[in-house]
Amino acid sequence: MDNIRDLDRQYIANTYARADVVFTSGEGAIIYDDSGKSYIDLGAGIAVNIFGCADKEWQEAVVEQLSKLQHMSNLYYTQPCVKLAQLLCTRTGMKRVFFGNSGAEANECAIKTARKWAFDRYGDENHSTIITLKGSFHGRTVTTLSATGQDEFHTKFGPFTQGFVYASAQDPADVERLASENGCCALMMELCQGEGGVNALTREYVDAVVEIARRRDMLIIVDEVQTGNGRTGTLYAFMQYGFMPDIVTTAKGLGGGLPLGACLLGEQVQDTLDVGSHGSTFGGNPVACAGAYNIISRIDEELLDSVRRKAAMARAELDGAKGIKSVTGLGLMIGIECEKPAGLVVEEALKKGVIALTAHGKVRLVPPLTITEEELISAIKILKEVIAQ
Ligand SMILES: Cc1ncc(COP(=O)(O)O)c(C=O)c1O
Repeated sequence: MDNIRDLDRQYIANTYARADVVFTSGEGAIIYDDSGKSYIDLGAGIAVNIFGCADKEWQEAVVEQLSKLQHMSNLYYTQPCVKLAQLLCTRTGMKRVFFGNSGAEANECAIKTARKWAFDRYGDENHSTIITLKGSFHGRTVTTLSATGQDEFHTKFGPFTQGFVYASAQDPADVERLASENGCCALMMELCQGEGGVNALTREYVDAVVEIARRRDMLIIVDEVQTGNGRTGTLYAFMQYGFMPDIVTTAKGLGGGLPLGACLLGEQVQDTLDVGSHGSTFGGNPVACAGAYNIISRIDEELLDSVRRKAAMARAELDGAKGIKSVTGLGLMIGIECEKPAGLVVEEALKKGVIALTAHGKVRLVPPLTITEEELISAIKILKEVIAQ
């Protein structure tokens, strides 16, 4: 395995600044590298492995389906995607689901749905603008880059998809202004911005923009690609903000490690997509969906309670510690603003056996939801030492 790094540099597209470690296996929140060294995982593959590594129940669900039917075209009925869609709708109050393979694809579906809904309603394309928030991140396709409310993503790959305007994530009056200046069909937001710096929207802001959207006949799209599937202490983050979105997108933890994205359609848009208007070869893959059914059915009140408890514990440990300026986020989606550069903290923590992430100048923690309290405390102790030095 010595030359894996060289081969990677030679054969893998040069889009990632990889850390100098080769991971080979894991169990729960403990990951091993190729020398056998163990690490406590506070990254979960960027909020994906929510039941950690090698989770037995999920593995059994996946392997059972894999041994029966690994893929079938969406031209035919299969059981796993229907069972999963029913479970997601029952637990969220949404009405139908479109399955893709990633967060970006889930968002593409949401964007297409909102525009088609407006087209069907008004008979033209003059109401196709979508308001997204500054600091947001919605994906890497050309359209979801356009949707992303950060200027740095809007260069080099143009021409970009038109029809997105960006509102302040603090001042609801900005949403009102943009809605009055453009023909808007939707407001799209992450309730806790992940890549943008782990910042949760305030309840007051969300109440105000939901009111604006409702009054102006705009759909509300919530991007729960990162916040979803138990991460923030409720099954989906919107459930703690007291409103019902029209469209919810999710991915990452949904598949528990297999590629799966979902666009959940509420009452207003449940029939907007019709035959031929959208599709995906792999979307709703039986193996990924069988695993996701297992994951979603196990995110129960007991687990969510433990997420909230561990989140409070982690915050209490970090708040006010030496070298820490602020702690942000929601549930087990934690941002740490440090005096030291975040990249350096993450690099040094890795050497000391803790996997953490960065997000816009902050250290970001998104551990498996099943991490034990002992593992979490041990990892935070190491992080605190690194941050304080
Ligand atoms: C909020 C949000 N939306 C969309 C995406 C894109 O998801 P994917 O990388 O699965 O396409 C991400 C990925 O980080 C995300 O955090």
